[in-house]
Amino acid sequence: MPAGILVVDDEAAIRDLLSEGLRDMGYDCAVASNGFEALDHLKRRQFSLVLSDIDMPTMDGVKLLQTVREAYPDVEVVMITGVVDVEVALRAMRMGANDYLTKPFNLEEVRLTVENALEKRRLVKENREYQRNLEAKVEERTVELVLKRREIEDLYERLQVSYETTLEALAAALDTRDTETQGHSVRVSDYTVVIARRMGVEDPELTEIRRGALLHDVGKIGISDAVLRKPGKLSPEEWIEMRKHPEIGYRILSGIKFLEKSLPIVIAHQERYDGSGYPRGLKGEEIPLGARIFAVVDTLDAMTSDRPYRRALSYETARQEIIRNSGIQFDPSVVEVFLSIPPDDWKAVHGRNPDRRDPARAS
Ligand SMILES: [Fe+2]
Repeated sequence: MPAGILVVDDEAAIRDLLSEGLRDMGYDCAVASNGFEALDHLKRRQFSLVLSDIDMPTMDGVKLLQTVREAYPDVEVVMITGVVDVEVALRAMRMGANDYLTKPFNLEEVRLTVENALEKRRLVKENREYQRNLEAKVEERTVELVLKRREIEDLYERLQVSYETTLEALAAALDTRDTETQGHSVRVSDYTVVIARRMGVEDPELTEIRRGALLHDVGKIGISDAVLRKPGKLSPEEWIEMRKHPEIGYRILSGIKFLEKSLPIVIAHQERYDGSGYPRGLKGEEIPLGARIFAVVDTLDAMTSDRPYRRALSYETARQEIIRNSGIQFDPSVVEVFLSIPPDDWKAVHGRNPDRRDPARAS
C-alpha cells in the first residue's frame, strides 16, 4: 500500500504541483488548503506524512504542526516555507517538524525530502516496536524467574523437612539403643530452643544449635553394648571408652556440610562450666553457648523422664538439682533464664514428645 501524504497549502498552484508530482512518484496523495481542512482529513483517514505550508490565512502551518504532534504522533510533518521564512522553518523543526522545503523547490528535492521523512518515520516506528517487544520479553522473563524462584524456595523447604525427618529418625534410633526411652533427643532439642530463643539466639544459629542438641549422643553408635547398656556402675576402663562418645560423634558428623555448625555442640555437650567435663575440659564461655544450654536441659529431661530402673522425678526435684549445680556444672546465666520459664512451659514441651518405653524391653 502506498504511503498516504497530505499536502496543505493555500496556493492552489503549489498544491497541484506537489500532489501531481507525488502521485507520479507513487504516493497516495490528498490536498487541503488550510490547517482546519487538514485536520479534517487526518480525522477521516491515516497519513504517514503531512507537507504543510507555514504561512496560511486560516490556521497556519505552525499551529497545524503543534496539533499534529500532539494528536498524531505517528505522522511526520515537513514544513514548506518562502525564503524569508527560514527562521520560522527552523523554529518549526525545533517544535517537532521533520524537515522543511524552501520555495521555490524542484520535484527532485521534494522526492528526497519525502523519502527521508518516511524513512525516519519507519525507523522511529520500528524502534518503538522493538522497545515494546523488549518490554514484553523482560516482563515474560521476570514472571518466569519469579516462578523459578518460588520453585527453588519450595524445593529448599522440602529439603529442610527431609533433613529434619532424617535427623529425627536417627536420633530416635539412638535413644532406643541408649536409654530405652524415646523422645529424649527431640525433647532436649526443643528445650534447648526454648532457652536459646530467650537468650536472643535467632536463625540460622538457632537451627544449628537445635540440630546439635538433637544429635548430641550420635557418637554412642561407636560405644559397645557391653558398656552402653551395662546395668551397674562402669569400671574405670569402661568410663574411658564411654567418654570417647563426643569425639566419635564429631568424627561421624564432620564432612556433612549442613551439620558443620552443629558440631561444636556435639563435641562439647559433656563439658562442665567449672572445667571438670570432657573431652577437652573447657571452662565457662570456652564452651559454646549451645552446649551450655544443652547441659541444663539434658539434666532436666533425664530427671523428669521415666527410666527402665526408676520412675520420672518431679520437675521441682530437677529444678533444685539445676540450682545446686549452677556455676559448677551449669552456666549461671543459662540457669537464670531456665528458672524464668514457668514449669508449665516445660511440661508442654515434654507433652508434645512423651516418653515411649519400648514395651518389649520394659521390665
Ligand atoms: Fe552424651
